[in-house]
Amino acid sequence: MASQRTSWNVQSSTMAQSAHNPIRQIVDKLKLDPQATKSFISLSVGDPTIFGNFNIDDSANEAVIRQLKTFKHNGYPPAHGTVDARNAVASMITTPEAPVTADDVLLANGCSGALDMCVNVLGNPGQNILLPRPGFSLYGSLAEIRSLKAKYYNLLPEENWQIDLTQMESLIDEKTCAILVNNPSNPCGSVYSQEHLKAILAVAAKHHVPIIADEIYCDLVFKGNTFYPMASLTTEVPVLSVGGLAKKWLVPGWRVGWIVIHDRNDIFKASVREGLLNLSQVILGPNSVIQAALQDILHNTPQQFYQDTIDQLEKNTKLSMDAVSKIPGLKPVQPQGAMYMMVGIDVAKFKDIASDVEFSQKLLAEESVLCLPGECFTYPNFIRIVITPTVDRLEEAYKRMDDFCTRHLK
Ligand SMILES: Cc1ncc(COP(=O)(O)O)c(C=O)c1O
Repeated sequence: MASQRTSWNVQSSTMAQSAHNPIRQIVDKLKLDPQATKSFISLSVGDPTIFGNFNIDDSANEAVIRQLKTFKHNGYPPAHGTVDARNAVASMITTPEAPVTADDVLLANGCSGALDMCVNVLGNPGQNILLPRPGFSLYGSLAEIRSLKAKYYNLLPEENWQIDLTQMESLIDEKTCAILVNNPSNPCGSVYSQEHLKAILAVAAKHHVPIIADEIYCDLVFKGNTFYPMASLTTEVPVLSVGGLAKKWLVPGWRVGWIVIHDRNDIFKASVREGLLNLSQVILGPNSVIQAALQDILHNTPQQFYQDTIDQLEKNTKLSMDAVSKIPGLKPVQPQGAMYMMVGIDVAKFKDIASDVEFSQKLLAEESVLCLPGECFTYPNFIRIVITPTVDRLEEAYKRMDDFCTRHLK
């Protein structure tokens, strides 16, 4: 039928309408007092570069500059990444227990792009996906945009944020397309033991559900903890492991992420591998210059750089635990890695603070300190503190939080 339109009426699609970042929506409600005299301190953004105290190693910068000067990397790279770049990832990730080659690697636009492809390749509208609560908000957004039901499994703060496996198992049904596990965790800062990871894998194996392992914080673990790649602990469960340069190498803006396909029983062979390749071809993967420098970045960054990053994170964590555990009404949970600390708020102790969102709103308005409320991670009565700011900023922020909490106590 010919168009009957007589005027303009252009709306965003239902897909666009379902796309949202819950953090943005909540943060938009938090307002800095325009009359504030105190300097603004943000403990809210998971970008380690913003304060200037966490920098990529200079050798990585030099590697990028060297590649730029060859004039050889200005064209379109293959959609899922150059062989050399995929090789660089594979040779870093491969272990005797979970061997992989460049054929098992796809590069993506950051770890977010990798997660997007993983959710896309495994989930059909009407199915469901198991996600951690508390967890990184992108997971829920990715599920929602493709009409996948997000089913949340509980993490237990009193058990270092281990998964409540009984509750998780009770969520699995015929329509469950994947279990997403984030280790080390944003927002919890938890690092799972080998035993716990094996117990999660046992549930996945029992119900034949693949795992998406978000390992973007791999190796960022503090003394006494070890990072175990999930895929190294199973011969049975197929795992799509995702990572990237954003956190361990401290360059989120370079937008390089990857998917590593661990599939020793060829369960993904029938269609998931091809599906991932198809998806990668819709929009080409990351920047060609960084791909060219990837071998140097991943394999020639001096060991000291990694150690310095962890030392600084660990020092900031200790300072944060010491300071926040003395603040009345607040109860921090000891982080074991990553860049975050979850802090419980005992709302019953405060005369005029009824929720985590109200806590964050008032703290920002009165003290110019911003922390994300737990609601951003589907976890009320907690706030998340990012522990990457400089020591002087952290100390000042905790002093103001102490004043704030003392003032609002019953
Ligand atoms: C758990 C987790 N996964 C994935 C990402 C996204 O990483 P990228 O910046 O590489 O897209 C983040 C970023 O903060 C994260 O915290």
